[in-house]
Amino acid sequence: MYYRRPLFWVLVIVVCIFTLSTLSHLNNGPSPLSLTSWNSQSKAPAAYPLPIRPGPPTTRFKDALLPDHKYIFTFPNAGWTNDVMNVATLLLLGILTRRTPILSPFHPSHIGKDASLIPFSKIFDIERLSAELHMPLVEFEDIKNTSDYQHDLDPVTRGYYGGETESMGCWTLWPTQAANGAGARSLAQDSLSLDLSFTPIPFGHEIEKPYLHWNLHYLAELAFPAGRKDGIKQAQSFNENLAKIMSSKPNNKDAIPEPRKIPFPNKKGEQIDPDEQVACFDFVYFTGMYKGGTEWWDESSPIWHLVGRHMHWAPLIKSLAIEYVSDRLGIPANKRDGTMPPFIAVHARRADFARVCPPRPREECLAPLRAYTRRVEETRQALAAKGFQNTGPEDLKVIMLSDEPKVTPTMETDRLLAPLYAPGSAEAWWKSVADQGWFWIDHEELNSVSKHGKWYTMLIDACIQSAGIGFVGTDRSTMSSIALRRTEEWNNGVGSLVRWGRPDSDAH
Ligand SMILES: *[C@@H]1O[C@H](CO)[C@@H](O)[C@H](O)[C@H]1NC(C)=O
Repeated sequence: MYYRRPLFWVLVIVVCIFTLSTLSHLNNGPSPLSLTSWNSQSKAPAAYPLPIRPGPPTTRFKDALLPDHKYIFTFPNAGWTNDVMNVATLLLLGILTRRTPILSPFHPSHIGKDASLIPFSKIFDIERLSAELHMPLVEFEDIKNTSDYQHDLDPVTRGYYGGETESMGCWTLWPTQAANGAGARSLAQDSLSLDLSFTPIPFGHEIEKPYLHWNLHYLAELAFPAGRKDGIKQAQSFNENLAKIMSSKPNNKDAIPEPRKIPFPNKKGEQIDPDEQVACFDFVYFTGMYKGGTEWWDESSPIWHLVGRHMHWAPLIKSLAIEYVSDRLGIPANKRDGTMPPFIAVHARRADFARVCPPRPREECLAPLRAYTRRVEETRQALAAKGFQNTGPEDLKVIMLSDEPKVTPTMETDRLLAPLYAPGSAEAWWKSVADQGWFWIDHEELNSVSKHGKWYTMLIDACIQSAGIGFVGTDRSTMSSIALRRTEEWNNGVGSLVRWGRPDSDAH
């Protein structure tokens, strides 16, 4: 009986929201976004008091921890989108283990070292995330002051690399996953002034052969007392098992490494068991709940439904994205209401993808522009079928986001990419984008880097990719896949990914 009334009100609210969101895209022509969650602001978030000692952080994170509280922690160690997926996995581990996640800053791996690191909350709306996940979220910056005069002078180390170097024991998944003698993925430890001793996660918990994707729940188990104890014991057979696996692989080219001390010693030579209070993992990107791999993008994906969809952009990033798109589409000042105008986003990932093409020539391997054009056309039809109005090219514009350089690379400008390009081909590609009446955001022309800093061109682009009512991306790009999922979830939008590899790959 107790649930009757709340249930009734929940139903009323659900019906209202549904009606409003339907009405908004049926009645307002191509401006359906004002009531979607992309445009909605963070609701007054439930304030979760942070479970840390009050006061400013000291140079030691250990000073900030509450003795009776447990935490969980991991590090960025890849390209930015994959690092975002890594953090989402950490958040899910926080739910599974009932530990408070400590969120690392992101590393500028593909952006240039002089961009320095950037805190999680500069990119994502951490208060809204915390409210929607019903748990407090601590950032590394809340618990350790790594900023000092000396390191702040250099843009590469600004804000980080200072503070006291603290020793700590962590689990490492990478040597077990890679199973080729690789060490831990611990790129970020220096920037956070940590000196880590790693215990390899025992073999035998992969969910995808050969060995890459690991069972996430097994990692969660290591964060409980008995699981931790068992894991430490089993880790002692790591060297033996690694040698067995490596010698059983056909055509194994890697030399079987000398047995290593378990736990792997840190720089000071200390061997430390994985910390009990702060469960810590090197890099948890290649994990999953039931099959790994493409699990993120499956309609039933636990990580998406539990965590990923709640990772909304920070207010500053959103307002910059709205400003850039409104400017580009020429929305007059008196028509701007602080929400994103409707458009279709296209993400054509080309520059680095072309590296996997040889011996096939680049232009026969990357998807041709007409494949994107066709998908855009299908997206318009699908939007119309969903009840959106004015989805034709006159009303609903297209914004192209691509890493294709504006100027064809030469041996002087990019030795890696230059051999793949025919002379003038990048300029010709952008010209054909313009010839279709599509727009793009030219960060160079708009001086985005000098205005907002090096991180922001990528962040604004990623945000714009998520902000259309339609999205057409590039197959096998995690950046595209996450943008499509966000478009569908947040904007009630529609989209698809263009396949590539051979001239007819996207035939459908
Ligand atoms: C961190 O330490 C530096 C150097 O002592 C100090 O100037 C700065 O205010 C501290 N930052 C915080 C957030 O306490």
